[in-house]
Amino acid sequence: MAGAQLSKSISGFSKLRKRDKIKWIVENFFKDPESVMHELMSYWHHSEEQQKILDGFAENTISNFPMPFSVAPNFLINGKTYCVPMVIEESSVVAAASSAAKFWMDRGGIQAKVISTRKLGQIHFLWSGEEHLLKTWIPEIEKRMRMDAKDILSNMDKRGGGFTGLELIQIPDLENYFQWRIGFETCDSMGANFINSCLESFSNTFENFITQNDFLKDEQRDVEILMSILSNYTPECIVRVWVSCPIQDLGQFAGELNAVEFAERFEKAIRIARSDTYRAVTHNKGIFNGIDAVVIATANDFRAIEACGHAYAARDGVYRSLSDCSIQDGLFHFWLEIPLALGTIGGLTSIHPIAKRSLELLGNPTAEELMMITAATGLAQNFAAVRSLITTGIQAGHMKMHLSNILSNFNATSAEEKLANEYFSKNRVSFSEVRKYLDELRTQNQ
Ligand code: MEV
Repeated sequence: MAGAQLSKSISGFSKLRKRDKIKWIVENFFKDPESVMHELMSYWHHSEEQQKILDGFAENTISNFPMPFSVAPNFLINGKTYCVPMVIEESSVVAAASSAAKFWMDRGGIQAKVISTRKLGQIHFLWSGEEHLLKTWIPEIEKRMRMDAKDILSNMDKRGGGFTGLELIQIPDLENYFQWRIGFETCDSMGANFINSCLESFSNTFENFITQNDFLKDEQRDVEILMSILSNYTPECIVRVWVSCPIQDLGQFAGELNAVEFAERFEKAIRIARSDTYRAVTHNKGIFNGIDAVVIATANDFRAIEACGHAYAARDGVYRSLSDCSIQDGLFHFWLEIPLALGTIGGLTSIHPIAKRSLELLGNPTAEELMMITAATGLAQNFAAVRSLITTGIQAGHMKMHLSNILSNFNATSAEEKLANEYFSKNRVSFSEVRKYLDELRTQNQ
């Protein structure tokens, strides 16, 4: 047993050539090494140059992991029409976003506003001195930080961004613990590298300031910098998107309900997601179905976006829906407010070959514009999901897509598809039922 386990470990793996990495993997972990090797290699990019770019994104790459690249047209946002790129593997999501976008396009579109774009970094340190001293020294510390980091700051300063100031934070339960919470504007870049480089420079400056400070007693000249890193919680990098229309205009999207019933059921569904965490998580997951798909398509950091969005959803101590709704004076209002620290230059955005195309498809937006487009996609997605839930239920749509996937798996012709769609609109969809149906159909037609 121990021997069998050992044969699955290796040293120096990262130094192997890609082909040898795959060879070792297939021989140790797969029952049919030859065909798996062939399959993995079949996903290598046919252009060596493109493959090199993809391999540069991570380590130990052995192949590529394909995901569908889709588009959702007809997004009218602040009067401008977009065709939104989406990378997602879940069926129904793109169709739902597209139909909600079209619905709102015919009702004035989606409105959007970026509230602020401030990002944050932190220097965590231990020091046995007094808080008030640090507070009085803030202007001097800030001046020195700015001076020492001038080479790092100069480009961002020229673009109109940069370091916007620092604040001292203490956490009562942590002895001798302090934190510099530092504000940044990063223009059209997400700014992670810029912020982290600034923070490392700032922490050196601060350490020197304390250790060489004649005003302090010897024992207070010891400062221990624990870590310097950006915070992915950016509650001040906020975008708000909203839609509204007379209640009567909702009729077309209300299925068997009338417009008023639809609006009231919708509003109740949102109230539940505002109050019940179990529902809120699923509700917000629906919002992120749209948001993540755009974030991935534009090569932004979806882990950061998710982590931040969920923390924001729990900002008052209870995890709640990120979207909200009201009905007032015959009008239906639906909105979403979410922090989205996105970039359209730097990072992978301009290196990933398809992300570059995604941005081009969106008209090479600024970071603020991308924040609005992404949030609008989340709002549309959420509108479509809640609409399904309070009318037909989501399974109807899912099953339609599921059926279409199964049919394509069996290479159904378009005539077979037509008959199957008709039959399965009244019968339960499953892989075996579809196979049985097609077998019978094909036997009859022989
Ligand atoms: C499924 O991926 C997303 C939904 O569950 C979202 C929701 O329940 O609001 C349909």
